[in-house]
Order: sequence, then C-alpha cells, then structure tokens
Amino acid sequence: MKALDLLSPALAPALTPTRSVPAVGRPHVHESALAQVQGTAHYIDDLPELKGTLYAAPILSNVAHGRLRGVDSTAALALPGVRGVVLSADVPGDKILAAFGHDEPVFAIDSVQHVGQVIGLVVAGSMRQARRAARLVRCDIDALPAVLDVHTAHAQKSYVLPPVFVRRGDAQAALLRSEHRLSGQLEVGGQEHFYLEGQIAYALPLEQQQWQIYSSTQHPGEVQHWVAHALGLENHAVKVECRRMGGGFGGKETQAGHLAVWACVAARKFGCPVKLRLDRDDDFMITGKRHPFAYEYDVGFDDSGLITGLHLDMLANCGFSADLSGPVADRAIFHADNAYFLSDVEIASYRCKTNTQSHTAFRGFGGPQGVIVIEAIIGDIARQLGLDAFDVRLRNLYDKNPQGPRSLTHYQMRVEDNILHALMPALAASAQYRQRQAEIAEWNAGQPVIKRGLALTPVKFGISFTATLFNQAGALVHVYTDGSVQVNHGGTEMGQGLNTKVAQIVADELGVPLERVLVTASDTSKIPNASATAASSGTDLNGRAAQYAARTVRNNLAAFVSGLDGCGAGAVDFSGGLVRTPKSERRWEDVVGEAFANRIQLWSDGFYRTPKIHYDKTTLTGRPFYYFAYGAACSEVALDTLTGESRVLRVDILHDVGHSINPAIDIGQIEGGFVQGMGWLTNEQLVWNDKGLLTTHAPSTYKIPTAGDIPAHFQIDLWPEANREDNVGGSKAVGEPPFMLAISVYEALRNAVAASRGGTQPLELTAPATAENLLRALGRVHDDA
Ligand code: MTE
Ligand code: MOS
Repeated sequence: MKALDLLSPALAPALTPTRSVPAVGRPHVHESALAQVQGTAHYIDDLPELKGTLYAAPILSNVAHGRLRGVDSTAALALPGVRGVVLSADVPGDKILAAFGHDEPVFAIDSVQHVGQVIGLVVAGSMRQARRAARLVRCDIDALPAVLDVHTAHAQKSYVLPPVFVRRGDAQAALLRSEHRLSGQLEVGGQEHFYLEGQIAYALPLEQQQWQIYSSTQHPGEVQHWVAHALGLENHAVKVECRRMGGGFGGKETQAGHLAVWACVAARKFGCPVKLRLDRDDDFMITGKRHPFAYEYDVGFDDSGLITGLHLDMLANCGFSADLSGPVADRAIFHADNAYFLSDVEIASYRCKTNTQSHTAFRGFGGPQGVIVIEAIIGDIARQLGLDAFDVRLRNLYDKNPQGPRSLTHYQMRVEDNILHALMPALAASAQYRQRQAEIAEWNAGQPVIKRGLALTPVKFGISFTATLFNQAGALVHVYTDGSVQVNHGGTEMGQGLNTKVAQIVADELGVPLERVLVTASDTSKIPNASATAASSGTDLNGRAAQYAARTVRNNLAAFVSGLDGCGAGAVDFSGGLVRTPKSERRWEDVVGEAFANRIQLWSDGFYRTPKIHYDKTTLTGRPFYYFAYGAACSEVALDTLTGESRVLRVDILHDVGHSINPAIDIGQIEGGFVQGMGWLTNEQLVWNDKGLLTTHAPSTYKIPTAGDIPAHFQIDLWPEANREDNVGGSKAVGEPPFMLAISVYEALRNAVAASRGGTQPLELTAPATAENLLRALGRVHDDA
C-alpha cells in the first residue's frame, strides 16, 4: 500500500464503507477527522463550564534546589478576582503523590527540587487573573547546591533508583580476544512532547465527597487513583473521563495526573469546580520530557564487522524523581541490541537524579535511547573497517531461524519472528541503496562544501508493557434496540486512531457497517483499573477485549436465531448488516429487535490478557514482549559544511504492521513517528542554563519540525505479512516503532560529516544534530574559543 494511493480517486470509494465489505483492513477515515477539521471536536477546554467555575494557575519555584522557608501571597491576594492560594497544607490526604517512586510531593513541602516545581496554586475568577496573580507570589527559598548534569550526578552517585546491570557471556574476556576494538561516547538530548493541547484538568465536586474529573490523560485509572489518594478518598468516589487528547506522546501518561490532583485540591478547598490549564511556557517548565542520555562504549569486532564483545554504560538523566524512569531505562537496556545479536555483552544502566523536571515517557519509552547507541556503534565500526554500514548491519542481525545460535537476546528472549533478513534487502532494492551510495561517493569526491550522506537502518521494537500486569484490558459492547452499537474500552484516544480501529474490529465481529458503531469517551466508571494507553499496545489490548465483548453478544444472537431456524448456532452468519442461516436472511436490526423482545442479553463485557509473556524484574530476563515490530528506513541528507545547515532530501521506509487494520491510520503513524524522531535528532534542542532554568520553553526557541522539514520524497510501504503471533486481525502495534526509523537520518548526517572530515575514528555527533553540533562534529567549532 503506497501512502499516496490512499488519497487518489481510485481508492476514494473505500472511504465510504459499503455493506458487504469488511471494515478491518481498509483505510477508513479517523472517527473524529471531520469534527477535528471543523473545530467541533471537544477538548477539555471546549466543554461547557459549570456555574461558579474557578481557575487555577501554578506558583513555580525559580530555584533549582533549595529549602522552602515560606510563601508570601499578599500581593497576589490583593489583585481583583483572586480567591486564594492553595499550598501543601491544603492537601487533605497524602501530601506525597501516589506516583511509582512515592518521591514527589503534590506541592513542594519544605524543599524545591527544580526550577518550575509547583509550590502551590492561585485560584481566581478568571484564568488571566489567576496567572497574573501567580507571578506576584514571593517564595522564600534558601538555595542549595544543585546537580544539573548527568555526569555530575553519576560522579556523586545521585540516583533516583539503583543502577541495573545486565550481562551475558564474558564481555571483558571477549573484548580482550577481539580482532579490533573501539571506544567512544555519545550524548543524546531530551525532547519536549509539544502536544498541541497542553496539559489540562477540570475538577467538579459532586455530592457526598464524590468527584468528576475531565482530564487530558493517557491513563484515566491512574488519575482516579492519584486523586483519591491525595483527597483521602476511596477510588470508587472518583470518576475520570477523557474523550480525546490533542496529543499525548507519553507526556500524559503520568504528568496529566499531577494537574488533576492539583485542580481537585483547589476545588475541594473552595467547594467549586476548578479548571487548571497550563500556559505553554508553564507546561514546558513543569512537565518532564524524554530522558536525555549519555553513553560510553567499548566494542570488539572482527574483520567483517561482526561484534564480538560490548561494554556499554548508559546514563539516563531522570530529573528530580523516579516517575517512569525505571521502566524507561529498562526499555533502553532491552533495545540496546536493536536488531543485532550481542554474544558477550555487559550493560550498566544508571538512573541519574538531577535538579530538573522529572523526565517521563515519550514515544518509544527509552527504546530510542537504546537503539541509537548500537546504530552509532555500528556506524563507527563500518567507518573503521572501510565497509558499507549496511553490510555490517546485515552481518550482525539476529538469526532468521529461531533455533539458530544467534537468536537469543541478552535478556534471554528468543527472537522467533525476525523478518529483517528479507525486509532490509527489499528496502535496499526499492530505494536503490547501492546505486545511490556510489553516486553520493562520487558527488562527495567532487564537492568541497555540500556533502551528502545516506544510511539504511532497521528497527526491532518489543511490543508489550515490560511490567506484565499492565498487559490486560477490558471493554463493553452495547447493542441498542435500533441495532446501533456503542463500544467503550479502557484505552484512550490521542489522535493515534485507536477508537477507529476498535470500531472497525467490532463492526466486523457483528457483521454491521462501520457507521453503526460508536466508540465513546474513556471513563473509569465503565472500565475499571485500565492500563495506560501506552507501549503502542492500545489496539492489541483494547481491540481484542472489544472483539471478545462483541463476540459474546453475537453468540447470544446466534443462539437465538439458530433456535428460530432450527439450525446449529455455528451456521448463523453475520455480515453486511445481515444475519443469514441456511433457511433465512434477516436484517441485523430486525434480529436485534426480536432478540430484545425475547429477553436476550444485547450487551457484554470482554477481557483480554496478552499470552506467553513473563519477566523477572529483578534479573531483567524472560519474555517481556509478545512479539517484535520491525521496519527499516533509508534516508539521504545534504549538509552544508560551512554553515552546518542540513536537510533531509529523501526517505524510503518499509515498515511491518502485520496485516494492517487501517492502512491510512498506520501510514499516518509511520509518517508522524518518523518526523517526530527527526525532530528529536535534528532541531529540537532543550537548553538548561547554569542555574537550572530551561531557557527553551516556548515555540520561539524550541523548534519542532514543520511542513518544510518533511522530505520531498517520503515513500512509505507496508510489509505484507501478518503478525506470526495470534494478535487482533493479524496486525502489529505501530504507535512507537517508526519513531526509531529516524535514526537513519542521524546516521546519514554522520556519514555526511565523515565525507567532509575523513578519518576512521569514531565520529562524535551530539544529538540533536543542530547546525552548531554538526559544525562541532566537523571540527569547525572549538568550545574554548
Ligand atoms: N499518535 C498521535 N497522533 N498522538 C499521540 O499522542 N502517541 C504515541 C503513538 N502515536 C501518539 C500517537 C505513543 S507514545 C503511543 S505509546 C501510542 O501512540 C499509543 O497509542 P496506541 O497504543 O493505541 O498505538
Ligand atoms: Mo507511549 S511513550 O508508551 O505513551
């Protein structure tokens, strides 16, 4: 399926479902697309507000680390419309957030740990009054020494969680035995989520200490739990709803919960509904980002580029608290092999505590920080040996045969579904990799200033939450007497198309046209204890749960119809809005109506748990992933070696989504993931100054990719095979894996730098590869100058 074909008139009829065609596998438009382009889709700030609603704005620390001695709100309280301030003392329940590490106060208690930490709120009759007043609050803070970079943190053993070591074989002995050795280092920056809808929560006190919260969250169940914990209530008293987010990208997995808790504490104090919507600059200052990483490696290899030993230190900058840093750093360990067998390997992972925002989930969840280092190492090996990096990549792949000697990961999971031996050469052929590599070498030989670079890199990404318990999901399917269907599941819609895919799956299960199925807002009172929508597993989990719920309803109807027609229930067919038996054909609506009249249950729940997975979190071994998603990208860049400006000229991608449930949505995810990955590695730069202040806290200084950065040639093809594991519709998860395909851009840039600089030594290019960092890698900037 080619990306452009989806927009061509030839395929246009496929966008309007017809009665006889199954919904799954077709490029149906996103269920909210029309409303979104019309501006009629509701985000939380669009909801009608209740009478008496107040607005909150945060009071932020302007010190990176210090003792909080007091808060003077006199000037703020004197402003018109201001109702009061909310501080830690106003939290009725636990003043420590119910976060994973139990290491974050709801509001600062007696110390502050980063610039931008929330000390309290100002509550006023309008958003503007609250924000203006919040700036007048004076916090009395005695500054303490702050740890602002990951190397200092590591040297001081300042960690949010203890280090983790994973070993297989004997890396040190293997390194000593290796024919060649290289060592190097690498620094990779963080990334701001830059969801278009900023963080927001709207908290409504109901009767008898019950609560309704509208939260832009990937994890309504956790918001519910955190709010109950902070208010000292039971979970059942708190209901959290999220119809959609205007993007989450991991940034609303935990961080949305903070806002909901803050808004609820304010709402409780004043007995009014409270809305808290962060200004964009405040959002940057308060919320965590992708973890910046630093690496040191020592690798051994033979003449063919085969890796024979690896020692790797990974330093994750976690910010001031644990948040999700443990599982993020774990996933970086699980992806430090990317697609390659590492025979003798030792990895040390340090979870460094710094006085900055608490870094959190971001698309790939540590995976990208694992993949990039091994890809950079392979690039360096190829340069050292004078080989084509593509050949070195192929040489190091896991075996195709799951029984082969090179099929076991360093965490003891067997790679059973490796398709890269076919996928990478297929992409190399369609992108004309070899021919273009020769052309580019010729170009570079003749051009002193503009250098071009080409790289083809793969991705192998493990699908499932590494914490096995999160791999469960529930759904409800309701069939109403007019034959219309309403689905609710524990997942959340953040633009990724989950609700569209779930509706397609349910439509086919019941054999009804897609437009008869409506998926409604995520709601903790409908599906309890739902996992975060994360780890790309939204459709795998919720799609299956909804399919099972629909199947139960269908089975009820089949039993009823088979009784009428005197046939076996298995002989009843549901498709195209019709219910057929060997004797009769009835309209779906008629069957539903008759079944209701006969007191047949027309609704059901469904529950799914991912099979086969198990994982020992003390040793980090087992089968943490149900399967792997694969892909490869071939990117070409041009680099102006005088100015450091660069441009991505051409990108070809071949990506594995199994049997696509919705190719339009999947290709959109591949495009979006790739471009977001390009942003991470090229122009999105977070700069903290020597006081710990994030100086790039608005779009004026923090640059995400724009339409102009998208390569003119951007070809995306889908791998045709189904998932080899039994997954819904034969599909594979797609949300995060394509993000890592952008590492091909980084490697292409390093090749362009090498074409200018020459030499075979490891090429240090700090990511993001801004013009400044590229000039530095070219040897044209001297930091002491
Ligand atoms: N796509 C859009 N449009 N908006 C988003 O916020 N989040 C990504 C990805 N794609 C995101 C997105 C992330 S981080 C994840 S984990 C998955 O979507 C989550 O959804 P899924 O599991 O349903 O794929
Ligand atoms: Mo995605 S980082 O797992 O929310």
